[in-house]
Amino acid sequence: MIYQVYPRSFADGNGDGIGDIAGIRSRLGYLSALGVDAIWFSPWYPSPMADAGYDVADYRDIDPVFGTLTEVEALIAEAHALGIRTIVDVVPNHCSAAHPWFQAALASPDAPERELFWFHPGRGPDGARKPTDWVSPFAGDTWTRTTNPDGTPGDWYLHLFAPEQPDFNWDHPRVRAEFEDILRFWLDRGVDGIRIDSAAMLAKDPTLPEATPDGPSPFVDVDAVHDIYRSWRRITDSYPGDRALIGEVWLPDHRRFANYLRPDELHAAFNFDFLGCAWDADALRACIDTTLTAHALVDAPATWVLSNHDVTRHVTRYGREDTTFSFATKREGVPSDLELGTRRARAAALLSLSLPGAAYVYQGEELGLWEVEDIPHDLRQDPMHVRSGGVDPGRDGCRVPIPWSGETPPFGFSPDNATATPWLPQPADWKDRTAAAQAGDGQSMLELYRAAIATRRAERALGDGGMTWLPAPDGVLAFRRDPGFTCVVNLSTTAVPLPPYTGRLLASGPLDDDLLPPDTAVWLRTPETTPAT
Ligand code: GLC
Ligand code: CA
Repeated sequence: MIYQVYPRSFADGNGDGIGDIAGIRSRLGYLSALGVDAIWFSPWYPSPMADAGYDVADYRDIDPVFGTLTEVEALIAEAHALGIRTIVDVVPNHCSAAHPWFQAALASPDAPERELFWFHPGRGPDGARKPTDWVSPFAGDTWTRTTNPDGTPGDWYLHLFAPEQPDFNWDHPRVRAEFEDILRFWLDRGVDGIRIDSAAMLAKDPTLPEATPDGPSPFVDVDAVHDIYRSWRRITDSYPGDRALIGEVWLPDHRRFANYLRPDELHAAFNFDFLGCAWDADALRACIDTTLTAHALVDAPATWVLSNHDVTRHVTRYGREDTTFSFATKREGVPSDLELGTRRARAAALLSLSLPGAAYVYQGEELGLWEVEDIPHDLRQDPMHVRSGGVDPGRDGCRVPIPWSGETPPFGFSPDNATATPWLPQPADWKDRTAAAQAGDGQSMLELYRAAIATRRAERALGDGGMTWLPAPDGVLAFRRDPGFTCVVNLSTTAVPLPPYTGRLLASGPLDDDLLPPDTAVWLRTPETTPAT
């Protein structure tokens, strides 16, 4: 199980209200007890934080708000001593506007650094129209016009995300060489994996055509991107031990998605179909089948993801009438039944932790945290919120600092002598969701995750391998994993009987005699069905 730490919000060691490396190091024991195999750290590099650190000014150092490179080296060593692998987040599509290359490029239209980005004249006689009408995943324009040193309007530059995040020109050998060196920098420091941000967006169609609804995108999943990952794979393969490349690849086409996982490219990619899927048996079964089929094409392990730092926490999603997730439909003020959402999230945990492949857990998911939807607008920092004109609630609601202990904010997020409050306010109701309040409480989300992860580690049938669907009533998912393991999830509205079993390993909620209630999952020990040969 791979655990995502979002450093700003995990634990604050020095009391300035922002999570940091010292805080993470102080909580490694918690992660070890939870049973995590690896930790993925969201970006911690020097950054003006226009996009919470996904705007990187220096890929080989640590932002002072988080700590120092020396502390990170100690963190990697301490994690390894606990048997925990480490994954750093590399952002290769764009850097920060404060990056020295971009600053040099802005300083003069003749600077060689211009070639490292997408500077382009505007359209029209005075160049006042942006070069293309490409729409950003962050809403709004993807081009910003520069001003020449003499004050006249100059070329435009491309930024698929915020203007503070200029896109690199991956056709340039210097960009490729630089990132190969950055990979080595982190691999040399012993990290076990690289999470690749916006991995499908690096290559652009250099003719800059308009995006059309039916044609291939000029900036997502352009074929030339694969060559980059082939060269990265050669690098990870050249290091001792297993070093993994894990891509953030949002693509609707499963075959195109699987292309990133060919044997000479990435090792894994996040399964956003599963994350966005409705809490519905038919939809989930179809998603699981498609996932496994797509991964089988390239012989890569599947991944199972319910939440991350970009999406509405699934306790909240699953309590809504529409349980799917998509950025396009994310809106303020959609009601959620958190009790129902929590029950479903518990069942979803048992589902995702027993499917074949790797499971990812986003910090706070194991505490059953919900999306914080009432953050005052002036405290929200996410550019998605601001750029949408407030239509999109933004992603701050899933980034609220973790509640560790105590009855009132900061709930142990910051030390007792803290000089500042957490960078986003925590709900007072989180007093029941702190790690301390849940520890030892058999009914808690935390103890469910601990038990499930321990069982996952102990059961030979879990982790990689195959699965077989079992016949089940409408609205029920049941599958077997050999040897001797069955998972049943009831997404229908009535309690259902269990298949034959020899023992109960774990249930996400109380059973009704031998009936599995709605929105509940169970792990069963079942008779060995695959005879040893
Ligand atoms: C990825 C990150 C997200 C960030 C975006 C731009 O989607 O997960 O947080 O805003 O890339 O870097
Ligand atoms: Ca701090």
